[in-house]
Amino acid sequence: MPKAMITGITGQDGSYLADFLLEQGYEVIGVVRRSSTVNFDRIEHIQDKISIVQGDLLDQVSLIHLLQEYRPDEVYNLAAQSFVPTSFSQPALTGEVTALGVTRMLDAIRIVDKHIRFYQASSSEMFGKVREVPQNEKTPFHPRSPYGVAKVYGHWITVNYRESYGLFACSGILFNHESPRRGLEFLPRKVAHGVARIKLGLANELRLGNLEARRDWGYAPDYVRGMWLMLQQDEPDDYVLATGETHTVREFVEIAFAHVGLDWQDYVVIDPKYYRPAEVDLLVGDPSKAREKLGWRHSVSFEELVQLMVDADLERLKGVEQLHPSPNIDW
Ligand code: NAP
Ligand code: GDD
Repeated sequence: MPKAMITGITGQDGSYLADFLLEQGYEVIGVVRRSSTVNFDRIEHIQDKISIVQGDLLDQVSLIHLLQEYRPDEVYNLAAQSFVPTSFSQPALTGEVTALGVTRMLDAIRIVDKHIRFYQASSSEMFGKVREVPQNEKTPFHPRSPYGVAKVYGHWITVNYRESYGLFACSGILFNHESPRRGLEFLPRKVAHGVARIKLGLANELRLGNLEARRDWGYAPDYVRGMWLMLQQDEPDDYVLATGETHTVREFVEIAFAHVGLDWQDYVVIDPKYYRPAEVDLLVGDPSKAREKLGWRHSVSFEELVQLMVDADLERLKGVEQLHPSPNIDW
């Protein structure tokens, strides 16, 4: 039975990757950091099928000990401070986790067992102020946030350990991917959740920032399959995963409201608080390499994605909101 270790298993991607690897017959070890309250919501349904172990990307020794004890065949490094606005308010922490955390894990692998295959969760945020359209594996980076800068570091240190020490280390440059398990602070989930609350009479407005930004949005379960495919190849390499389509935030909002029979213009309030010090205006990926070499392609269209997210939040909120009110997050 192959063994995989996942950092960031309590996050959106970690939980879907764990589902996927269990289906493939893997033994799954999930690394979680210590917190005063457990947050296993996304992995509740598989808790008895995986091992949950304590470790932190900020702590080198914890990573070495985990690899020594569990001896995984594959490590998926999905843990990060992943929210762009927080990277502006906590830039040093973002660098420690999202950048240096990658080196800590790579060094732990180098020390414990160089044969462990490694996946790094790189990001289309690295393209930032884009140099070409669409973006592929060779497009130069120009990050626009401390998060993007940290991811560029994580990407290059992965490439460097592959070239310097012969590690089987891959960097997946993933464009935005979403799902009903997405954190409430990210735009797609904020919109889906906000629309559901308005439809159910629990709210009467949705406050947003820049509606003109463009993103290449896909469905998260498709993307975790791509991560696994990268580690099953004969040679390590870097791949873009994207749909190849771009849409504005405005289009996302429009479709989400229309899906429940509402006009977004009656409810959306533009609030400058949600604008960023520097914006990534346009992302659209070219996934040709992943299609040709991995046989990977996305399976859910943009419109289907928006609708399934709104439906999931409507379902979740019906009846339970009075008993378990949604957390009051305003980021
Ligand atoms: P997410 O939902 O924010 O999950 C992040 C995970 O990292 C959580 O499990 C979090 O644990 C964990 N974490 C944070 N700091 C840690 C630390 N110091 N030590 C150990 N674990 C720590 O992110 P996601 O959307 O699943 O994304 C997964 C990865 O892909 C991230 O690296 C992200 O930057 C990258 N990425 C995401 C996208 C996307 O569109 N989703 C696109 C490109 C790249 P807690 O639960 O304790 O907070
Ligand atoms: N979060 C948020 N909240 N974003 C808003 C809002 C708002 O109220 N209003 C407009 N936006 C715009 C942002 O300015 C941005 O241009 C776009 O919506 C998407 O924002 P997010 O959903 O927060 O995602 P992101 O693109 O900044 O980053 C995500 O994708 C990256 C890959 O490109 C994150 O998942 C990153 O971790 C990931 O690397």
